[in-house]
Amino acid sequence: CDLFLVIVLRQPGEPAVENGLIPYLGCALQFGANPLQFLRSRQKKYGHIFTCKIAGRYIHFLCDPFSYHSVIRHGRHLDWRKFHFATSVKAFGHDSFDPRHGHTTENLHQTFLKTLQGEALPSLIETMMGHLQDVMLKSDTLSPSKDHWQVDGIFAFCYKVMFESGYLTLFGKELGEDKCQARQAAQKALVLNALENFKEFDKIFPALVAGLPIHVFKSAYSARENLAKTMHAEHLSKRENVSDLISMRMILNDSLSTFNDISKARTHVALLWASQANTLPATFWSLFYMIRSPDAMKAAHKEVQKILGDSGKTVDPSDPSLNLTRDQLDNMPVLDSIIKEAMRLSSASMNVRVAKEDFLLHLDNQEAYHIRKDDVIALYPPLLHYDPEIYEDPYEYKFDRFLDNKGQEKTTFYRSGRRLRYFYMPFGSGVTKCPGRFFAVYEIKQFLTLVLSYFDMELLDLGINAPPLDQSRAGLGILQPTYDIDFRYKLKSSQ
Ligand code: HEM
Repeated sequence: CDLFLVIVLRQPGEPAVENGLIPYLGCALQFGANPLQFLRSRQKKYGHIFTCKIAGRYIHFLCDPFSYHSVIRHGRHLDWRKFHFATSVKAFGHDSFDPRHGHTTENLHQTFLKTLQGEALPSLIETMMGHLQDVMLKSDTLSPSKDHWQVDGIFAFCYKVMFESGYLTLFGKELGEDKCQARQAAQKALVLNALENFKEFDKIFPALVAGLPIHVFKSAYSARENLAKTMHAEHLSKRENVSDLISMRMILNDSLSTFNDISKARTHVALLWASQANTLPATFWSLFYMIRSPDAMKAAHKEVQKILGDSGKTVDPSDPSLNLTRDQLDNMPVLDSIIKEAMRLSSASMNVRVAKEDFLLHLDNQEAYHIRKDDVIALYPPLLHYDPEIYEDPYEYKFDRFLDNKGQEKTTFYRSGRRLRYFYMPFGSGVTKCPGRFFAVYEIKQFLTLVLSYFDMELLDLGINAPPLDQSRAGLGILQPTYDIDFRYKLKSSQ
C-alpha cells in the first residue's frame, strides 16, 4: 500500500515510473519475457534512470554505465545485506545471516573472502585439478577411448565433470581407503545423488527468489532437504580434504550462531548452489564457443601447449597428474578471453541495493534524483555487455575480444570516446561482487586446459548456431542454454 502511494504521489525529482497494466505484477511479465529488450525500450523513453513496478516492488533501474559508481560506491546510503540475506533465507530455508536479526554474529562477507581468496586459492586449485583428472580419466564418469568417439551433449558433459569435481573439492571425500571398491561405489552414488537433487532444486530457484514458497514444489523441496541431510555435521565430519570454505562454515555455525542442525546443513546447500549454479553454464558456454571457433581452438591449443611445455609437463592419460600453479593460470590470456567472452554473452546477473534512508542519487550528467528509504536500485549489466558502442557486433562471439594487440588482457573499453570503469560485470559489483570469482575462472581454465590436452573434440554439426539463452533465470547469473548441443570426443591418439 505504501509502495502504491509512492507512485500516486510521485514527487518532482524522482525517476519516471512505469506501473504496468496488471495489479501487483506490474511490468513483471514484459520484463521476464525479455529483460534486455524491455529495459532498452524504457531507457529510450525515459533516459538514464526510471522506475518499474515488478511483482509488487518498485525498482529504480539505472542504465548509464558512467553513473554506476554512484550506486556501487554509495555504501553510506545503500544496503546490500537486506536483499542478499533475505534472498538466501527464502531459497535455502536457513536462519538469517544478518547479524541484525540476532541468529549469528558472524561477518559472512569476511568469511567468504578468507576462505575463497588469497591464501585459500592454491589448495582449492590443486584439489580441483586432481579431481577433474580423476573424473575425466579414472572414474567411470566418462570412460573415453582412443579408438572410438563418444557422443555427448556439451552441457551434459560439463555438468557431470564440473559438478563432481567441484563437489569433491568443497566437501571432500569420505575417510577411508581409496582403493576399496565398495567405498568408491558409495562415494560415486553420493555424488550422483547430489547431482540429481541439485538439478531438481535448481530448476525452481527463480521461482523461490521471486517469492513463491518452496512447499509448492514438492519434489524440489525434498531434493533440497535430501542435499541438506548429507550435509549434517555428523556426515561432514567423516570426510577428509574438506575445503576451508566448508570447514570454517562448520566451525562458525557452531561457535557464533544459534542455528539448529537443519539450518546449519542448509547453509552448506547454499554454498553448494553458489559454487555450481553459475559455473556449470559458464563452463558450457566457454567450451561450446571455443569448439565452434577454429581460431579459438588453435590459439587455446597453442597457449596450453606452451604453458605445459615450459614447465616440462607431459600429457599422459594413463597417469593423469597435470597441475598448474596460480601463476601459470594467471598467465593464460587466451583462455581468459575465451571465458570472458562466453560470459559476456550469457551473463544476466542483476546488481541490487536497497536505500537505507532518503537520499539524492547523483548521475554522471549532473542530474540528481530523490531516492526514498527502502527503494530498490538495480543495475542490469547485459545493457553494457550488449551495447554496440562498447562491444562492436555485440551478438557475435569473438574469442580475442578481451586481448590487446600484444596478446595480453585488454582492460580499456570506451563508450562515446570516454573510457569506462565498468564494462564487464558477470560477477556483480562492489561489496557484493562474487567472492568465488577467482576460483571460478581458474576452475574453468583448468577444465579447458585438460579437455584440450587429453581429448580431440568436434561438434557433430560444425555450422550449428548458439542455442538461445533460457531467460527464465534472467537476473540470477549465467543463463543456461535452452537446449544442449552434441559433440564427440576421444582420447588424443598421439599420447
Ligand atoms: C555471489 C556470480 C562462481 C561463491 C555471486 C553473485 C554473482 C556471482 C553475480 C552475487 C553478487 C551480487 O549479488 O551482487 C558467479 C559466477 C560464477 C560464480 C558468474 C561462475 C562463473 C562461484 C564459485 C563460488 C562462488 C565457484 C564458490 C566456490 C559465491 C558466494 C556468493 C556469490 C559465496 C555470495 C556472496 C555474498 O552474498 O556475500 N556470485 N559466481 N561463486 N558467489 Fe559466485
